[in-house]
This record gives sequence, structure tokens and C-alpha cells, in this order.
Amino acid sequence: MTGYFIAFEGGDASGKTTQARRISELIGAIFTREPGGTDAGESLRELLLDAKTPLAFRTEALLMAASRAQLVEEIIRPNLEQGLHVVSDRFLASSIVYQGFATGLPVNEVRGLSVFATNGLLPDLTILIDVPVAESMRRRTDTPDRFESETVEFHEKVRQGYLTLAENTSDEWAVIDGSGSLKHVSEAIDEAIRDRLGLSIGSTGS
Ligand code: TMP
Repeated sequence: MTGYFIAFEGGDASGKTTQARRISELIGAIFTREPGGTDAGESLRELLLDAKTPLAFRTEALLMAASRAQLVEEIIRPNLEQGLHVVSDRFLASSIVYQGFATGLPVNEVRGLSVFATNGLLPDLTILIDVPVAESMRRRTDTPDRFESETVEFHEKVRQGYLTLAENTSDEWAVIDGSGSLKHVSEAIDEAIRDRLGLSIGSTGS
């Protein structure tokens, strides 16, 4: 018996990290993130997010895929095979949306690169936390990284890219309105996980 693999996706400052951690605790899953999650992946993350190091879009796509390949091999697949659930803060859809829809690399090629990286492993459920760009920009507090430094237009493309992906593969996606209260967003996510995966989770409501 293998565990479930759940990915959380959304724009920057969508609240997905808080939710991914919360769900992970509720269902007793292994929590991880992308880019990162392994020693090699965290080194790649530093380089990828550093706004001061120039990276060509194709380099960016390859490094994202490299981090993903290592994470699948080292953490995700072995834990699923042992029957544990895994929750990841971002996965393959982030590459399709950021490197494909937003930077303009061919979407199918970016997808192909990621499928190569994961050796075909896909999430059982992807939870998209959708927040209007203006609101997510208001929520930001830290020094902006490479992607947070991007224009409003870039982030609009990210949002639309996610919504397009979710619409085209509705079975594996749950789209959650992330602009409500924390309690409201949490309840919607709990319900989606109960309905789609049949996992029994007591809602924390916060
Ligand atoms: P995070 O801080 O939300 O974890 O995300 C790191 C940034 O990396 C975020 O701005 C999105 C970006 N990213 C990509 O561009 N492509 C990817 O494949 C992944 C996983 C993240």
C-alpha cells in the first residue's frame, strides 16, 4: 500500500506554506518543499531564488527540474512506497506555470522536462490556493527574491496559468479561494482532502 502524495500550489504569498504544514501535521505526512527539500535541493534553492545571480530561463528550468529529481528519488518515492503520505509545498505545476506560462518557455517542453525529472511520479491531489495578485502583493513583507521581484504582469500570468492547468485536469486539482479568513480557507482544504482522497481529518478550523 502506498501513501498519498499531495502538492500545494499557488502564487507567492498565497498562504500555501502555512496550509501545507498544517495538513501535513493533521494527516501525519512527511512535509517537504520545492525547490529544496534535500541537501542538493536546498543549495539549488539558494541559487535559484538569489535575485543577484543572473540565470537564463532554460537554466532556471533545468535547475528546478534537478531539485525535483533529487527530491523524488531521495524523499518522495521512498516514503510513499513505505505507505507514508507526503505533502509538498510546490511541485511540478510550479515549473509549468512559472517557467512555462509566465517566462514563456514552451509549456509542453517544460512539462516533459519535469516528467523526466520525476520519472513519471505525479501528485494524487494538487491543491491550488488562488489569491488575486493585488492581494498577494499586499501580503508580502520580506526582501523580494528572484520571482517576487517580477512584475505584476508576470504574477498575473502565474495566476492564470494555474487556473488554466486546474481547469484542464480537474480530477487531480482542488481550487481553493485563498482570499477568505484563515478558518474559511482551512475548512475548504480539509473538505477537499476528505472528499477527494477519503482521508479522515478532524478540522482544526485555524
Ligand atoms: P516558495 O518560496 O513559495 O517556496 O517558492 C519559491 C519560488 O520559486 C516561487 O517564487 C516560485 C518559484 N518556483 C518556480 O519558478 N518553479 C518551480 O518549479 C518551483 C518549484 C518554484
